[in-house]
Amino acid sequence: MFRILFIIPLLLNVNCFAQTVLIADHLVDVETGKMMAEPRIVIADDRVSSITFGGPIPNGTLIDLSGHTLLPGLIDMHAHLTASHLEHGYKRLASSQTRAALRGVKHAKATLQAGVTTVRNLGAPGFTDVALRDAIADEDVIGPRMYVSGPSLGITGGHCDNNLLAYEFQAESEGVADGPWEAAKAVRRNIKYGADVIKICATGGVLSKGTKVGVQQYSLEEMKKIVEEAHRRGKIVAAHAHGTEGVYNAILAGVDSVEHASFIDDKGIALAKKNGTHLSMDIYVTEYILGEGEKAGILEESLEKERKTGGTQRENFRKAVNAGVKMVMGTDAGVYPHGDNLKQLSRMVEFGMSPIEAIQAASINASKLLKQEDHIGVLKAGAYADVIAVKGNPLSDISILESVQFVMKGGKTIKLPADFE
Ligand code: ARG
Repeated sequence: MFRILFIIPLLLNVNCFAQTVLIADHLVDVETGKMMAEPRIVIADDRVSSITFGGPIPNGTLIDLSGHTLLPGLIDMHAHLTASHLEHGYKRLASSQTRAALRGVKHAKATLQAGVTTVRNLGAPGFTDVALRDAIADEDVIGPRMYVSGPSLGITGGHCDNNLLAYEFQAESEGVADGPWEAAKAVRRNIKYGADVIKICATGGVLSKGTKVGVQQYSLEEMKKIVEEAHRRGKIVAAHAHGTEGVYNAILAGVDSVEHASFIDDKGIALAKKNGTHLSMDIYVTEYILGEGEKAGILEESLEKERKTGGTQRENFRKAVNAGVKMVMGTDAGVYPHGDNLKQLSRMVEFGMSPIEAIQAASINASKLLKQEDHIGVLKAGAYADVIAVKGNPLSDISILESVQFVMKGGKTIKLPADFE
């Protein structure tokens, strides 16, 4: 009964003590890769004020997560919170941008409850991602921290254009920008309307109509200009690139991360390593596309492209991991259900990573790419109190991260274990 009285203010997010204290059996230190026993995390407002191990429990509102292991809230570096996994191909044309933004509210909550406390949103028409990010920051909506790109930039008829309709509909995606200066202007426009990062389409893709996955789209010259413009403004660039040549040229242009990287070869891997380019390889989504995609409206030509892409991407993921390239977890959630993001972790282990490497890809590596390593993706004094807990040891069974029991974001409890008392 006494403990229940303590929980009520927690759920109401009323802090009747100056600080909150989280205790558990273990904590995964993502910087050292070590499992630490008896963590005591002291939280004041939205930040961690101290972490100690063993010894007396500090004063404050206690959240006792005995039987659990704590980790920093995880980061998905490639999601589309305003997109629905149920609407692909022509089905997507029936939803307005406003409807997509409202659906984003539901997706944001599902994502956060799954233990993903930060998302990099890579591509949203109408700056719906900016609106969602701001609504979350203003606490109108429950969701993860968001770093957003606004509309993806790409060539006329490319993966980031809309190629579904005939000429007379004059349908062109707002991110279409051809030539270095048009592309530079598009970068400036995206920044003007709130983009934190720039997303470009360097090659064709699986889910776009009429594009070849392996073929480069933006030229090296265009990509260099985009990167120059974005970096001058302090923004990182993420390049969608499946094809071998497109991957080289995106890296040579200086992008900060290559998304998908399906047909990266040894030369591309060496180049990524030399330049410190991060790879964000979405190696789970192939299972959804080939399993459920047809029902969701994915075109037959896209299913055919996926059959030729997913397997190779997984093998190349293994090669990149073995070569020691910087890896982050990017899932493409939105193509598949939001909240299933962390299913990718077990695939990352199956295809070459150790469990701690997979966790690092979704935490400290990601926060470094975002230049936020003092604030997110790590539990240390001064960082945001973004904390998740699982039952058991994720370093011996990574799949337990598919059932995160506890979520705290910025010191606010979002989810408690079902058996919490
Ligand atoms: N958005 C990506 C595209 O359309 C999804 C690729 C998914 N397939 C994969 N094997 N990762 O190209």
